Amino acid sequence: MHTFKQIESVRECTRKWRQSGQRIAFVPTMGNLHFGHMQLVSAARKLADKTVVSIFVNPAQFGPNEDYLSYPRTESQDRNMLLEHDVDLLFMPSPHEMYPQLSQTSVSVKNLSKLLCGANRPGHFDGVTLIICKLLNILQPDILLLGEKDRQQLTIIREMIVDLNYDVEVQSVATAREADGLAISSRNSYLTMQERRIAPQLFASLCAVRDAIISGNTNYNILIEEQMHILHDAGFRVDYLKICRSLDLLDAEQQDSDLAIIAAATLGKTRLIDNVRFQKIT
Ligand code: PAF
Repeated sequence: MHTFKQIESVRECTRKWRQSGQRIAFVPTMGNLHFGHMQLVSAARKLADKTVVSIFVNPAQFGPNEDYLSYPRTESQDRNMLLEHDVDLLFMPSPHEMYPQLSQTSVSVKNLSKLLCGANRPGHFDGVTLIICKLLNILQPDILLLGEKDRQQLTIIREMIVDLNYDVEVQSVATAREADGLAISSRNSYLTMQERRIAPQLFASLCAVRDAIISGNTNYNILIEEQMHILHDAGFRVDYLKICRSLDLLDAEQQDSDLAIIAAATLGKTRLIDNVRFQKIT
């Protein structure tokens, strides 16, 4: 596995691959790799000749009171996982390599980045779109792989790629889950043992709303209220729990059929996000 920390060296390598007609699939990460990331890597390997992974804890997407400094950094463990999964190239730049000066340029998918998580984390998605633009410009992959757990991030990046005419295909990969349903996430390591036992209720609540809608329940407000109570009683502080149109994450109307139930909630110090997407028979 090639490992590069410098933009120039990684560019030279991917340029050669492109010139020899090899297709490149790219999995951006912030490290602390887990089974969910490996699902993205496995999908990448099936879709292209070369698989590139980046590990970069992107300061631009963390708010001043968020966990940038304490975000888990597990470099050697991550490298071993990538080696075991036959990744061709690891790009692991330093913050100075990616941001040698304060960026004067911002990339903002205006409306979408202010909804849902964006309302509580101002600037977060602008930081995500900025780093994804920079990584796409550096690596110029054919395929970009993203997880469905961060559905809002996925929707925003898809929109940005269309708006800015990036020549890259986005492939999403289903959320990897623990046996009890909890979506696998690097931040799950912040949960205490007791919180870890409670955490799967978030997915259970999403499924309860989904199942009720599939069985014909049309009272969206009551469905959401019921699950808000259940989550609150279990110890969550719910940031939002919504029934959205999966295409643009706006509130779903009765006639919409491609739906996503989407939520963010905090347990102790850990903010969890999750969603389920499904088709309502209309
Ligand atoms: O989902 C993540 O891990 C990050 O937001 C991403 C896409 C790697 C950008 O820093």
